[in-house]
Amino acid sequence: MTQNQLKQATAQAAVDYVAQHLPQGGILGVGTGSTTNFFIAALAPLKDRLGGAVASSEATRQRLTQIGVPVVDLNEVESLAIYVDGADEIDAGLSMMKGGGGALTREKIVAAVANTFVCIADASKQVETLGRFPLPVEVIPMATRQVARRLAALGGNPRLREGFVTDNGNSILDVHGLVITDPVSLEAEINQIVGVVTNGLFAARGADVLLLATEDGVRRVFRP
Ligand code: A5P
Repeated sequence: MTQNQLKQATAQAAVDYVAQHLPQGGILGVGTGSTTNFFIAALAPLKDRLGGAVASSEATRQRLTQIGVPVVDLNEVESLAIYVDGADEIDAGLSMMKGGGGALTREKIVAAVANTFVCIADASKQVETLGRFPLPVEVIPMATRQVARRLAALGGNPRLREGFVTDNGNSILDVHGLVITDPVSLEAEINQIVGVVTNGLFAARGADVLLLATEDGVRRVFRP
């Protein structure tokens, strides 16, 4: 199977999960990225059942609107039953590295409101230890140099994502060379650096369910 076929398989499994678990008229949280794009495309048959969706990026907002799903402001929502999103890496404890597409801050905000985080990923995203994928850190532009120095002091090699501006008007530093053995602590430590908006570790609030697409089918893995 190609990677796109695997992405399509996990996306379809997520649509089935939503059909099973989202109450009629419920609001769905929707992530960002190529796997999530397959999910949005496969969501069309369920759209009359949804009360609407909260989007984690402008790109996702546009795609949802195109298929006729009403996009709801997060401030109008008390809680979300389900949030569906991809990951750049995911470990056995269902901690994730995210933000390859640069939408990490809004993704983390929407995920924080959701009761169940459903991660959709193909087997290439599964890792023993997070950190081979560079860790994205969203930074207030005037703080970029000082945050980069602090990240270097933590043992990383931060590189500015050239020509990229987040939906929030900020910059991204991609931190190479980290071996992340304690993602919960590192997530908190990096968030304490003045000028950091958020970082791409989703460990304090990891996934609850992983729909892992493999050559042998899609496996449901639950947070231990
Ligand atoms: C977007 O900012 C990211 O967090 C994506 O969810 C993540 O990078 C996974 O993207 P793909 O599905 O494109 O690999």
